[in-house]
Amino acid sequence: MKAHELRNKYIEFFVSKDHTQISGASLIPENDPTVLFTTAGMHPLVPYILGQEHPSGNRLVDYQKCIRTGDIDAVGDPHHLTLFEMLGNWSLGDYFKEEAIRYSYEFLTKWLAINPDKLSVTVFAGDEGVPRDDESALIWRSLGIPDERIYFLPREDNWWGPAGEAGPCGPDTEMFIDTGRESCGPDCRPGCKCGKYFEIWNDVFMGYRKTLDGDYVPLERKCVDTGMGIERTIAILQGKKSVYETEVFTPIIAGIERLSGVAYGGKEELDISVRIIADHVRTSVFILGDQRGVKPSNVGQGYILRRLIRRAVRHGRKLGIDGKFLSALATVVVDMYGDAYPELLDNREFVLTELGLEEEKFSTTLQKGEHEFEKMLPNLLKGNGRVINGRIAFKLYDTYGFPIELTEELAAEHGFTVDTEGFDAAFQKHQEVSRAGAEQQFKGGLADHSELTTALHTATHLLHQALRTVLGTHVGQKGSNITPERLRFDFTHDAPMTADQVQQVEDIVNSVIARDLPVSFETMTIEEAKAQGAIAFFESKYGEQVKVYSVGDFSKEVCGGPHVTSTGSMGHFKIQKEQSSSAGVRRIKAVLEK
Ligand code: ALA
Repeated sequence: MKAHELRNKYIEFFVSKDHTQISGASLIPENDPTVLFTTAGMHPLVPYILGQEHPSGNRLVDYQKCIRTGDIDAVGDPHHLTLFEMLGNWSLGDYFKEEAIRYSYEFLTKWLAINPDKLSVTVFAGDEGVPRDDESALIWRSLGIPDERIYFLPREDNWWGPAGEAGPCGPDTEMFIDTGRESCGPDCRPGCKCGKYFEIWNDVFMGYRKTLDGDYVPLERKCVDTGMGIERTIAILQGKKSVYETEVFTPIIAGIERLSGVAYGGKEELDISVRIIADHVRTSVFILGDQRGVKPSNVGQGYILRRLIRRAVRHGRKLGIDGKFLSALATVVVDMYGDAYPELLDNREFVLTELGLEEEKFSTTLQKGEHEFEKMLPNLLKGNGRVINGRIAFKLYDTYGFPIELTEELAAEHGFTVDTEGFDAAFQKHQEVSRAGAEQQFKGGLADHSELTTALHTATHLLHQALRTVLGTHVGQKGSNITPERLRFDFTHDAPMTADQVQQVEDIVNSVIARDLPVSFETMTIEEAKAQGAIAFFESKYGEQVKVYSVGDFSKEVCGGPHVTSTGSMGHFKIQKEQSSSAGVRRIKAVLEK
């Protein structure tokens, strides 16, 4: 069965069971600042699983493009992908375990004609908070799955979600196909990595909401969320050893073979490069061609895109491809997916142009950077450690545009690791040097400009914290805009502030200014920052290093800076206007008077 047939059959099956087909969403999540990309079919449906009415009803089905960035470095082996399509069906407070499991069984055994004797399932074994899922086990048994193929497994295996840091989650039941391969030993069971069992589908019984504090709150309305990966499933149905051998990849790989003269399936080392290019081009096309598509950049989604493109370019060179090649491959992807994802057709020109620009930008420096690296090798090999220091990694980044992850890969090919902390330090230092440079340039007339905006930036932090103190911690930043004259701050709050509240906020900020508190920053991961209670209102990926600015003991906030070094000389803080910005959002304009 081909990918498009599986996609169509799945939708058709659930429509025949009274589900409404909805469109998949953008790859860039709208409601979840804790992750960069949509990682599962349920991700865009979170508000509905949490209780909102869905306009299409309470039985839904769709296919959703997903990206899991944690897998980027693993791409190259025959199994990992960064982008995949997930089929899913949902019950929003409608059916629960019984129908969900029956639907899954019927689709697998009747519509996909999978032999029921080859099916094994896992169910949640239960722990302190949540009981063992005997109900699901009974349903499977009633369908004919014998006890010895029903496995009760703990939370690590049979609990799913939330998709980001907080949100709906619950115990699940997972379905596996026995591939017929030799088992790796007596402990082998579904979920084992040896390859005997292949996970084909996951039915999640959404019964809880995990909060940002780590608590699990029961949901009032229980939901079902399921997910089946298209690429993996067709590979197993077609009896292929790898997703890269299916029709989803063979046309892209044929393109790479044509451009490079390398035959896929020969040398493993070359195959790795072929798979990296095939996967990364496909994902890049989807990011650029998304309805909320982004360009390559140094932050957020744009940085992931940049990494993918640059890594693909480097592996293209390794295969001996000389000129530009990404657009030719991108065309194959757009043509292949245009029907299922029409946004790719709408954005075709943008995709091809941006891909070409980024490729060109990096091609000119890639060779020089690699040459520079190779020149250093004899010296590095003489040393004892096998570590590339942060300064060198930073030079490759700054001068030649090597994302740090690419330098790590290059280093690993020569048996080295990279001092990433040293890289971060060099990075940080560079930012301060360039800021100092910028400030120098401003001296001679413009110095005021940067001093004023810097002070207003610090004032914004003080205002943010003071608002939370006076109005409550529901206050969160929605927008901020600073000119040399004033700050403007939009924040979540339902009602106009009273004159008294405005006064209190001004007083708090002015007292912090009067205390002349020191302003300093530390670099840490976003998780550490949150654990320390820092306010964090912008998108950062898991494990991302962020700067946390502290104003004495008064405020702690994730922010790129710059700020004043101490509050004493900021002037007198005055709120000029407090008004509505949009529903549930207020806007303050304020100044610092000298
Ligand atoms: N949301 C579930 C998953 O991604 C179905 O596996």
